Amino acid sequence: MVFNLRNGVVAITRDGRVAVMNDIAYQVLGLASRAGDVGRPFTEVLSGCPEVAHILSNAFDTDDLPNRAEMRLRKTGTAIGYTLSRIHDDSGQQVGATMFFKDLTRVEQLVERERLRDRLAALGEMAAAIAHEVKNPLASIEVMAGVLKRQLSDRIDALETLDDIIKEVKMANAIVVEVLEFVRPIQLQLERVSVSDVIRDSIAASESKMPPGIVRFDVRVEQDVPSVMGDSHQLRQLFTNLLMNAYEAFAGEGLIEIAARLETGDAPGAPGARGPQVVVEVRDNGPGVAPDNLDRIFSPFFTTKPQGTGLGLAIVRKVVDAHDGRIDATSAPGRTTFRITLPVARIEDSAGDKPQELIHGTDSRR
Ligand SMILES: Nc1ncnc2c1ncn2[C@@H]1O[C@H](COP(=O)(O)OP(=O)(O)O)[C@@H](O)[C@H]1O
Ligand SMILES: [Mg+2]
Repeated sequence: MVFNLRNGVVAITRDGRVAVMNDIAYQVLGLASRAGDVGRPFTEVLSGCPEVAHILSNAFDTDDLPNRAEMRLRKTGTAIGYTLSRIHDDSGQQVGATMFFKDLTRVEQLVERERLRDRLAALGEMAAAIAHEVKNPLASIEVMAGVLKRQLSDRIDALETLDDIIKEVKMANAIVVEVLEFVRPIQLQLERVSVSDVIRDSIAASESKMPPGIVRFDVRVEQDVPSVMGDSHQLRQLFTNLLMNAYEAFAGEGLIEIAARLETGDAPGAPGARGPQVVVEVRDNGPGVAPDNLDRIFSPFFTTKPQGTGLGLAIVRKVVDAHDGRIDATSAPGRTTFRITLPVARIEDSAGDKPQELIHGTDSRR
């Protein structure tokens, strides 16, 4: 029966041999199962995970066995929660030990997401107020610079300076607009949204900001991709931001491939079961993200561009989160992929009676 558990299990005998190791254990520990593992010394079988082997090796020495302890596997970065216990035979002799463990990565992500939402909600109100105040003087500066330009129509040098001022004001304004977009509390306007419509509209929106003909798009939406419960305005913005980043990464021509497919969910009723999801991959053949930067690209204000705000992907992540979706990025030169997973129906929807407007940490709608 051990083999049917959703937890990873490793059991060892008193003399240090593997008695049981289930598939989930191999999976979570990132090890490949080999014939004959059962019966071999656990230190050999677990040589790829020395920290786990170390915990097991203490099983018979220590009085206080870890219960619901947590640790992070060095090799894969996976966080696991584990419990160690000894096995006794009828006469009370210690005959072995078992370690039960569970991959906590998803739990961790949920907690972190929750924390981020709280932080953004508080920060957001303040930033929105500031941004709003800054917008007005910026607008005045732009108007007054325009007036001055007309008054100085015979002074070429002064006109150039004024043009510079106006350009900077526009830039500052663009930043303020993005900040506002990032921090505003979200009111998702949920409706059934066609994924291919969103993709088509996003391509049109981004093409209107690029010189014609240098970016090629290759779109593949599989037949069975259903519409998703989402906010079409937000989803368009999500994809437009990704497409603009790809375009900005190209040092000239480039190809953007967009592929959407349906991933069927787990069997309903199982604990933690996931419903069907739509997976959209946006891939470009640009130079890619430096490995050191890959962890940071979703952070607000992280940018490698002289004129960048670093908010594009922060907004993308916010929109994905508000939809209870996930996003990850992988990158190598010539192949950068953003993979977005959106639930076909949001958790709240299947619960039934929740209102269709849900407030989340932040939003882009003004
Ligand atoms: N498709 C891509 N190819 C290469 N680098 C990318 C791509 N998308 C994002 N990046 C990197 O992520 C950074 C953050 O992106 P973003 O949040 O949109 O801010 P910005 O575009 O203002 O710099 C970019 O400055 C760039 O370094
Ligand atoms: Mg960007």
